[in-house]
Amino acid sequence: MKQPYAHAMMPVPTHDEHARQNCIADFKMHMEDHVYPANRLVFDQKTLPAFQRANGRAPKSKHEVRHQMERDPFTQMWSSIARTLQEMQWTNVADVVERQEGELKARYRQLRAKARGTLTLNPAVAVPRYNDALDIHCMPGGYSGDQGEDDIFAGALYDRGSHYYGAPLLGAKAHTIEDRPGWMFKERQPRLVIAAVRQMAPGFKPKRILDLGCTVGGSTIALADAFPDAEVYGLDYAAPQLRYAHARAEALGRRVHFVQQNAEATDFPDGSFDLVTSHGLAHETSAKAIRNILRECHRLLKPGGITMHYDPQFSRGLDPHDSFMHDWDAYYNAEPFWGTLHECPVLDLMAEAGFARSKSVEFWGSFGPNLEAVLTPANDHESNIYRTTIFGAKK
Ligand SMILES: C[S@@+](CC[C@H](N)C(=O)[O-])C[C@H]1O[C@@H](n2cnc3c(N)ncnc32)[C@H](O)[C@@H]1O
Repeated sequence: MKQPYAHAMMPVPTHDEHARQNCIADFKMHMEDHVYPANRLVFDQKTLPAFQRANGRAPKSKHEVRHQMERDPFTQMWSSIARTLQEMQWTNVADVVERQEGELKARYRQLRAKARGTLTLNPAVAVPRYNDALDIHCMPGGYSGDQGEDDIFAGALYDRGSHYYGAPLLGAKAHTIEDRPGWMFKERQPRLVIAAVRQMAPGFKPKRILDLGCTVGGSTIALADAFPDAEVYGLDYAAPQLRYAHARAEALGRRVHFVQQNAEATDFPDGSFDLVTSHGLAHETSAKAIRNILRECHRLLKPGGITMHYDPQFSRGLDPHDSFMHDWDAYYNAEPFWGTLHECPVLDLMAEAGFARSKSVEFWGSFGPNLEAVLTPANDHESNIYRTTIFGAKK
């Protein structure tokens, strides 16, 4: 698998570190292509008949499937390997970052000194409990582990680590990812969001854009590229991500404004933005927080403005087995809200936040052979893991 493309802030592995990263990534791809799919066979031939014998009916929910499958040695085997690979992958990337932390900090200071964009940190912004209580998706220190002034560790860890986390989810197709901007795994998400915005409002030219939960700005930079005349803001509560995001954007020659705020209640006045987005934020919050965030999107939009969000696929349409497989992260990958969110009727969430149902959309997003965005209206009868849900509305 190709490495993530180089820029001044990207940590660089030694030969041995690189070999270890590839070994873990190849193992993950093998699991995706050859091991996880076999769980359906175990379910159909063993678990389902056993459940039916015991209960006189088929399982009705993903939870019933999980309780049965967790007792099966095959499921126990792959689940244990998957968790171990996840921990190994982060630890290995953490070694790469730690070894060159001093140099990366120095580069952050240099890039900051001649920046075109801005970085506005506010130490009074608290880390929400739903992210502070655990190391989300097993990432050591979570998003916000902060050693104080100029610390960029968590950002560097995410920038390099998210590539080794995300790309192998494509199985062997991960080898087709190119090491250039726009092609990395995390940079695919905004393609779907931007396509949905363009489908909703052809010719839309937002003047001010806010990207919520921007982390290292992968999605934020993609928005800046898609709408070059716009003033673009990336928002996160995590200072080490924002420091890194700022330096990364400068290293890549993009002008973006990064702010440390909580997406549930920002400091921006009503009607400040034409477009408000998020990419992978929803599943990392909570039932209360996602409602606050969507209400905040409504408040922040000008009349006629658009909000659009990306998340790994909601459970809608999935049969109990696929829904159980999809839910693994909620129980074994420190993503506690993953399963609950994905059961939420997304159009109800938008309506609760104040958006008209007639102006709200819900798509399943996937990619064509040349990475072109493919948006399919979400429905209740196709059990097929597309892997992404794109949802939003026009105010
Ligand atoms: C999966 S990451 C988003 C990835 C990012 N959009 C990208 O392009 O790589 C989720 C981010 O949301 C942030 N986050 C979670 N809850 C938040 C909140 N209430 N306010 C601001 N940021 C939040 C986390 O700190 C994390 O950086």
